[in-house]
Amino acid sequence: MVCLGNICRSPLAEGILKSKLSQEFEIDSAGTGHWHEGEKPDSRSINVAKKFGVDITYQRARQIKIADLEYYDILYVMDKNNYDNVVALCKTDAQKQKVKLILDESSHTDKTVPDPYYGSEEDFIHVFHLLDDVCTVIAKKLSHG
Ligand code: 4NP
Repeated sequence: MVCLGNICRSPLAEGILKSKLSQEFEIDSAGTGHWHEGEKPDSRSINVAKKFGVDITYQRARQIKIADLEYYDILYVMDKNNYDNVVALCKTDAQKQKVKLILDESSHTDKTVPDPYYGSEEDFIHVFHLLDDVCTVIAKKLSHG
């Protein structure tokens, strides 16, 4: 799960998808930026997750690294900027094909998970629901092979 800062959206996506899949799936998150390395998720993401029964307090932000592109089978990104930035890191076509806009797995026409960093609590709740719905679809898909 990849966003810009790895403190708002992708920590939610990581926590939500983990809550829907068994531990045989290795799920992690990262940011394309480095500014928040080592920090806990934004307190607003922690609180909205907690409200819906998901604990993300253990997570620490990190920047995506080249090795992630080889190691993980799928890299879900939150918006088009994340997509472009991650694809720019790819060395091979096989790596590029692993990068997917997460909302491409949903029926929404707007494929952007909006960045809530400068927003309100309602924006975080909206992001939670978007990710919760699409992670239900993803979890079903992955757990059926
Ligand atoms: P995220 O949100 O990409 O969902 O983690 C942001 C967090 C921090 C910043 C931007 C977006 N920032 O500019 O520091």
